[in-house]
Amino acid sequence: MNDSLFVLDSKPVSYVIGEGALAFSEKNLAQYKQAVILVDENVEKHCLPVFREKLPLFNYKGVISIQSGEQKKNLEQTVHIWNELTRMQVDRDSLLVVLGGGVVSDIGGFAAATFKRGIKSINFPTTLLGMVDAAIGGKTGIDFSNFKNQVGLFANPCSVIVDPVFLSTLEDKHWQSGFAEVLKYGLIMDRELWRMLKGKHYREIDEWSKIIIKAARDKIDIVRHDAHEKGIRKNLNFGHTLGHAIESYFLKSGKPVTHGQAIAAGMICEAWISSKVYEFECIQLEEIIEMIDLNFDRFNLDESVIPDLLDLMRQDKKVREGKLRFSLLRKLGKAVHDIEVDMKLVREGLQFYIAREKCS
Ligand SMILES: NC(=O)c1ccc[n+]([C@@H]2O[C@H](COP(=O)([O-])OP(=O)(O)OC[C@H]3O[C@@H](n4cnc5c(N)ncnc54)[C@H](O)[C@@H]3O)[C@@H](O)[C@H]2O)c1
Repeated sequence: MNDSLFVLDSKPVSYVIGEGALAFSEKNLAQYKQAVILVDENVEKHCLPVFREKLPLFNYKGVISIQSGEQKKNLEQTVHIWNELTRMQVDRDSLLVVLGGGVVSDIGGFAAATFKRGIKSINFPTTLLGMVDAAIGGKTGIDFSNFKNQVGLFANPCSVIVDPVFLSTLEDKHWQSGFAEVLKYGLIMDRELWRMLKGKHYREIDEWSKIIIKAARDKIDIVRHDAHEKGIRKNLNFGHTLGHAIESYFLKSGKPVTHGQAIAAGMICEAWISSKVYEFECIQLEEIIEMIDLNFDRFNLDESVIPDLLDLMRQDKKVREGKLRFSLLRKLGKAVHDIEVDMKLVREGLQFYIAREKCS
């Protein structure tokens, strides 16, 4: 083992993260007599050959390929996976190797957890977002009726193997998307990570392996303490209450944006709301917004979309008894959860984003 590899041999999930993680996991994979690999068409083209090259001894029964993209994280594709698993006579001792970004791990985890009341799976994330977030923590599911992640369950893979080797073919916009989640860990819990990133554009970063290990460990720490989002895990939702509404809005209008672009917008609005609730210094809010604006263009929204966004937010899984609860920043590097926020302040947060105001 070396400094660039993080290994946590724990239950119910073990983790191997960093350069060389694929080769390190070969022995672990050998115990499965029957395995099937799930990919989407881009992952099949770019990552499956790398996977085969790095794990030459790994034997598998077949490959299931689904169509890529958020709009395909749906029931129809889940049925396709179940059909293929049935056709390949996969039994309850088999393994589903989930190789791909967050869409593949969400739908793959869901299909594995429901097929024959649950078969084992291992996540091999291939996007930055998957590596630091989606593949970790056991949230699985699909979009339904225009709402994101409307149907799903908590179901952990037995391992998460994160090897940055896959990232060399990732499109720029997906690097950017994952970067939003990396920034989020800095904001909610990891000032050291924030300091490493501060003032940098994601394309200038050269120590990705270190950053991925740090961000992934932040997520692992949280989900190990609170697997089912009863408490501290809710802090990860910073930026996501408004961000998911924005993502659903664009998905519904047929012009999908990346998860990270939507979360970046959500983080600006929710940082502003935080600054009003906790009265933190203007200079901190400016620092957060400058960093997000350096890495993400703002959406051209106008005020007429605000009622739609507020409606979408009411569908959010975080709404309890009709009240919107946010995860906010107490200050930079410290999040708090379950904070009820008045609708008026939410509307003003969106107005602040749309008007590109300076902090006051
Ligand atoms: N379950 C969770 O905890 C959780 C957390 C965050 C996000 N998510 C979900 O994750 C999804 C977004 O994930 P994503 O950003 O990884 O999107 P994605 O899975 O759609 O991947 C982005 C694109 O990159 C392609 N791709 C993947 N790896 C590649 C590689 N190495 N080289 C070239 N192309 C590659 C994919 O085919 C796709 O076109 C959303 O559905 C979101 O809701 C889930």
